Amino acid sequence: MARAIFCWVVLKIILTAKGEDYVLRATCDNAMAVYVDGKEIIKSGMENWTQESTISIPSDFKVLGIRCVDYGVIPGILASVHKQDGEEVLVTDGSWRCSREEFEGWSEAGFTEADGAWEDGSPIARHGEGIWSHYMPDIGSISKNAYWIWTGGHETYSTAYCRYTVPQPALFLRATCDNEMTVYVDGKEIIKSGMENWTQESTISIPYDFKVLGIRCVDYGVIPGILASVHKQDGEEVLVTDGSWRCSREEFEGWSEAGFTEADGAWEDGSPIARHGEGIWSHYMPDIGSISKNAYWIWTGGHETYSTAYCRYSNYF
Ligand SMILES: *[C@@H]1O[C@H](CO)[C@@H](O)[C@H](O)[C@H]1NC(C)=O
Ligand SMILES: *[C@@H]1O[C@H](CO)[C@@H](O)[C@H](O)[C@H]1NC(C)=O
Repeated sequence: MARAIFCWVVLKIILTAKGEDYVLRATCDNAMAVYVDGKEIIKSGMENWTQESTISIPSDFKVLGIRCVDYGVIPGILASVHKQDGEEVLVTDGSWRCSREEFEGWSEAGFTEADGAWEDGSPIARHGEGIWSHYMPDIGSISKNAYWIWTGGHETYSTAYCRYTVPQPALFLRATCDNEMTVYVDGKEIIKSGMENWTQESTISIPYDFKVLGIRCVDYGVIPGILASVHKQDGEEVLVTDGSWRCSREEFEGWSEAGFTEADGAWEDGSPIARHGEGIWSHYMPDIGSISKNAYWIWTGGHETYSTAYCRYSNYF
């Protein structure tokens, strides 16, 4: 008895520490497969569209994927996610993204949609309404705010791949360079005032799932350098300029884009000059904004003045 109570207490502590799971309630017309962060969840009854499947999912999930094969009459995916106390977290609607094709990694976090292949989930009817109001007005406890969704046109005998990605808060890039800076996020130039003033930090909001950061810097003499760090909303450091960056003195087509391939010998690891607040800058500018003190001023090897450096950080998943 004492042993049973002890086990119960331990189990309770473990469950509490893990955080409460959510409950996914889902069905599809006709045969369903469910993926949580890329992992398929197998349950009996998933081929029976009149039945709700109840699946426990971690509350910190990133992507839900539902694949559905329609066998005729009308297609549709219907689902809602709830907290333990029943409170609704999300439902199937236009916030989901659907495709008729299966893509590698489509249900995983960090997946990038191929141009034109994905569209917003197209609502057919609310749960309990439309054609289903006659046959199946109530499927388990799936929220009545949920819509049956499919790809546009709602074509029968087709397969739909629908995914919901939990929106993630943006990250912040804090950067400067000695002397004039240009910043690229996934190949797109970000324009901000003050980027030609090396004593000033530029703060730029970047997507949590960015793939490449590129910083071009033109030095006007004395000493060159690029200094930057990326932070979460709460200030937690994600990365800093150091030897993990790659730098070149030449500009290459697409150098700041994802998928760029380095030309042999043209790129080298970012060469650290000094930490933020140290070296020559300790006299002039020990603190530039809130750029991390773990960040290094970097350049191409030799730290040549009056040169231009192209430095990039890749964040491929
Ligand atoms: C499908 O589910 C419904 C509701 O739970 C049940 O009544 C029915 O027997 C199931 N059909 C099959 C073929 O298993
Ligand atoms: C550069 O930035 C610093 C710090 O914000 C500011 O004091 C200074 O006036 C700026 N210089 C120019 C030329 O804008």
